[in-house]
This record gives sequence, C-alpha cells and structure tokens, in this order.
Amino acid sequence: MDSSALNTFQQAQHPVLVASDCDDRARQEFVKSFKTHIQQSILPAVSGVYFQRAVPAYANDHGKAPEDHREARQSFADDPLFQAYLCLNRSSQELQWFSVIDAIEADTQGLASRANDIAPAGGSLTLDANFEIPNYVSSLDIHCMPGGYCGPADAAKLHTGALYDRGVYLYSMGYMGPNNDDMGRSVCNYVKRNLPDLRPKRILDLGCTVGHSTLPYAELFPDAEVHAIDVSEACLTYAHHRAEGMGMPVHFAQMNAEQTSFESGSFDLIVSHILLHETSTKALPRIFKECHRLLAPGGAVIHADLPPFGDMDAYTQLILDNETWYNNEPFWSAMRTKDQIQLSADAGFDKATTHFDTAPMAIMEFAAASADESYTEEMATELTDREFTAGEYAPGGGWEVLIARK
Ligand SMILES: C[S@@+](CC[C@H](N)C(=O)[O-])C[C@H]1O[C@@H](n2cnc3c(N)ncnc32)[C@H](O)[C@@H]1O
Repeated sequence: MDSSALNTFQQAQHPVLVASDCDDRARQEFVKSFKTHIQQSILPAVSGVYFQRAVPAYANDHGKAPEDHREARQSFADDPLFQAYLCLNRSSQELQWFSVIDAIEADTQGLASRANDIAPAGGSLTLDANFEIPNYVSSLDIHCMPGGYCGPADAAKLHTGALYDRGVYLYSMGYMGPNNDDMGRSVCNYVKRNLPDLRPKRILDLGCTVGHSTLPYAELFPDAEVHAIDVSEACLTYAHHRAEGMGMPVHFAQMNAEQTSFESGSFDLIVSHILLHETSTKALPRIFKECHRLLAPGGAVIHADLPPFGDMDAYTQLILDNETWYNNEPFWSAMRTKDQIQLSADAGFDKATTHFDTAPMAIMEFAAASADESYTEEMATELTDREFTAGEYAPGGGWEVLIARK
C-alpha cells in the first residue's frame, strides 16, 4: 500500500478546533506538504549518502561500521546534505507552530464563545490550584512549541490546547487520522484482540495533553469510566472542552503521573501515549511504580511510544536522536536506551510476562481494508511484520507498546 495516499485526510471539525481562513489554511497545508517532502524525498537522499559515503569512510578509519547513534553521528555530522536536512527539519517545525498561531489570535473570541456554547456530555475537569509542575515540563518548549505545554491558562485559556491540537495534526502530516487519535484507537484495538479477558471498567490515560488518544477509550469501551491526567492546566482545560464538544464523557484531572491521588488498585487499564520520552530519568521509575500501585490485580498497563534504540539500526537511531539535538526533546534518546522491562520489574511487575509488541496503526488498517475488500483483522500483523526504518512516522505501520500485567 502506498502510505502517502493517507495524506488526503483532513482534520475533523469540533467546536474548539481553531478556525482558519484561506491564508491560514494555505500556510498550514504548505507546512504539512513541506514536512512530507522532507521525509519522503529528502531523507531517502540523505540515507543514500550516509550508506554510500559516511559508512565506508567510518569503516576505513575504525575497522567497523557505526554501531549506534553516537558513532553514526560522528561519521555523518559534517556532511553538508545531512546538515541541510537538519536545517530544513528544524525550520519546518518552527513554521508549523507559527502557521497556527496567527489563526488562534484571530479566533480568540470565537474559541471562547464556541467553548461556552458546548452542551455537557457527562465528563468533568478537576484542577489543582496548588499544583507544582515538574520542571522537566515547565522549563522548556518541548518539540519547539512556543510557550510549551503549560502556556497561559488565564484569558487565553484555550490557546495552548488549540495550538497543540492543530499543530500536531500538521506535525503528524495527517498520519494520526482526522481526530489525531490513531495511537489511542490502535491501542484499544490491540487490547480487544490480545487481552480479550480484560474488560476494563475504569481506564486511566497518563499525560493526555488535549485528550487526542483518550477519546477512543470512551468510544470503544463505552461501559468504562475513562479518566485522563496531565500536569498542564491549559491543556486539560482545552481537552475537557474538546471532549464535551465531541460528546465524549471523560474525567480530566490535573495530576502528576509520578504520584496521583487516586486510590490504590482503582484502575484495570492504565495507558500512556508518547508520554514516557518526555519525562525525566528520575520520573520514569516513579511513573512505573505509580502504575503498579493504581492497577487492580489482573489489570494491565500499556505504554505506547516508538521502539527502544536496541531494536533498530544505528542510522535509524541517529535520525530519531535528532529529536534530542534539534527539537527540544531532552529525554527522547535517554528514554530509548533505558531498560524498560527492568524498570517494570523494579516497580513490581512480573518480568517474565512484561513485553514489547507492535499495535498495528488503526489508520493503516483502515487504508488496507479500503484498498482490499478481503482484508481481515487477522491480516493486521502483516502490516507490522517488518523493521522500523528511519523517517517512518510509526514503526513499520504500528506503535510500539510495552505491556505489563499485575
Ligand atoms: C507528547 S504529550 C502526550 C500526548 C498525548 N498522550 C496524545 O496521545 O496526544 C506529553 C504530555 O505529558 C504531560 N506530562 C509530562 N510529564 C507528566 C507527568 N509526570 N504527569 C502527567 N503528565 C505529564 C505533558 O504535560 C504533555 O501534555
């Protein structure tokens, strides 16, 4: 299947999605196409130069090919095409956010009044006036998003969430689907297929930001009570309005995943989506321990992210490691070198049953089923039965999931 065909999706409307005029849309579509062009046309050329020039030169000097991202960077850092690729990538990232900011400023009143008009859907928002934001979140603009996750939560209360919502759609070039919810949807499908004994009654999503990945749990497990936490008041406020506006009853609360105020054993499914790589090395073991405390016996925790570095070649590591160097993601690479199975074991999970797996991307399954009427769910593994290679949005058509059961 030609995955570039997926880019024809447009972001779905909901009441707090920022409005944009023709000029905004032109800028935003340019950024989306620019990012796609870098990934699909420029990166393959960069890869060619790496393997044809940098690896042989490194092998000549060192008697072996680069074996990890550090050696790969050493071999390639001075290459002008690699440097041009890095500049383009960084520029596209800055442009992406700025292409949304003008639209948000123009829509400030509209956003507030559309939020006001939303009919309640049964969810809730609990904020904590004395909350202390961990400095690994507050001290920098993660992935170069101006203002970071914890931007103003006063007059411009909805701005941070609106920026993330529209910006991430462009960031993912549409690969997360019209509601940016592919990770949550894919993990829900994974749970239904692979953990059929688990019929969750209480689900918790850690580090939910604007609730993109949370809402599929409310949709696909309609009998469950769905909770979602984050440290950012601004993101949670937007998440609450977005969920209510989409008719999804979710309970959002401002809490730190390292130590929440939920009762022990009060959830039977805990999930996180691309949270772990944004938490510090000190926070990581605490989050694993908190998951163990919060799970009821028989419950499961699933952390979805990209694979550990140990599961990929040196060049793919290098391309991902650029996030740490050039995209304000200080823990991106550190987290991928941590032994997450051992962290789970240290938190109390059984090491023998804790494992990584691949959850097929729901959007890839949707595309496969649309292209081939004979597609069945059993064929899902064919979508993911290959290596993750540099520049792919998700590993070989699927999300890496770490699964542990209590
Ligand atoms: C990359 S975003 C997660 C995206 C979201 N899960 C999704 O699927 O769209 C990381 C989020 O985790 C939050 N976060 C970071 N550390 C946290 C912690 N210790 N507890 C709760 N949330 C945290 C950040 O505020 C941010 O909103």
